Amino acid sequence: MTDSKSSSDLQVEKAKADAEAKPKPGSLIMSGMRSTHHLHIGNYFGALKQWLDLQADYRGIYGVMNWHAMTSRYKEPHDVARFAREIYAEWIAWGLDHEKNVIFVQSEVPELLELNMYFLMLTPMSWAERVPTWKDAEEDAKATDTHNLGRFMYPVLQAADIAIYRGTHVPIGHDQIAHLELSREIIRRFNFLYGGNLPEPKPIFSETPTLLGADGRKMSKSYNNAFHLTQEADDVVKALRAMPTDPARVRRTDPGEPTKCPVYSYHKLFSSTEDLAWVEPGCRTAGIGCGDCKMRLAGNLNAKMAEPREKKKELLANPDQLDAIIGDGCARARKAAGETLKSVREWTGFAGTW
Ligand code: TRP
Ligand code: SF4
Repeated sequence: MTDSKSSSDLQVEKAKADAEAKPKPGSLIMSGMRSTHHLHIGNYFGALKQWLDLQADYRGIYGVMNWHAMTSRYKEPHDVARFAREIYAEWIAWGLDHEKNVIFVQSEVPELLELNMYFLMLTPMSWAERVPTWKDAEEDAKATDTHNLGRFMYPVLQAADIAIYRGTHVPIGHDQIAHLELSREIIRRFNFLYGGNLPEPKPIFSETPTLLGADGRKMSKSYNNAFHLTQEADDVVKALRAMPTDPARVRRTDPGEPTKCPVYSYHKLFSSTEDLAWVEPGCRTAGIGCGDCKMRLAGNLNAKMAEPREKKKELLANPDQLDAIIGDGCARARKAAGETLKSVREWTGFAGTW
């Protein structure tokens, strides 16, 4: 049989799929981040920004994934714990509403592990083996002592994260497509085997801009070139001073090309149209210097960070208040997980009184 779908058919199909993926009023958005490091600007544009947009219309449940963080940082559990607390505070500081949403810490909900266990049984090795983050990262994993079983089952635990809260939609970046696909397959297989009704989560894609790091290479925690999401104003200035610019602009009088400059890629994210209209011709005609250009950006970045920076400091400086918020979020998450697990035990026949 020949496949004769025209491109317009495909477009219609895509539009239908997109419409299907759009959450409805009763949907539950579920997502999380690993607590391996400080958050950086990429985490904001890649995830947090979508969550903030979504919370206006949908219920959400967001987890600080500290067990997932242990897959690569099992040698430093105390760092993982410290970052978990910091990230929790950071989300709230940036405006994630802890009353409207449920914000929890993964390890406070042990019910997760029981569902994970059933999922581990029903997931064929080959499904986990073909996930690119395992398959393509093997050499790197061996070199960094992270070629471990926990990392192998990473996507299974992720499926359990979503299913235990009955998440219906998962906002993800493109790097997470394979994980979510596997989650859907595991959940489908679980429902098929035991007659369950756990929702098969749908992705909500975010267009993540490729961000450059402070050294002009791709922003990455492993290059240590990432801008932290909340930095002291002076550190923002310092980092920008050191940032490379269009390599063709050696002297102040050399014209430059903004699209070849990492500084400009940040202007596009943080600066007003007026500022962009100042940078572009200014750079191309050597009318402005790179120092001026960077300091304008520093001002804009700091303006955006100022409020969350203060809010985060305030939260971390009042541990009792923060503990109460975290405790409440975790209790609500645990209650929801307990209800799902009760059904899971009924479906699997483990609910009997012995
Ligand atoms: N794997 C995700 C990441 O690295 C983090 C994560 C863990 C997650 N569990 C999840 C995301 C459940 C969405 C849903 O970004
Ligand atoms: Fe980059 Fe700005 Fe310098 Fe142009 S003027 S090269 S955009 S820093």
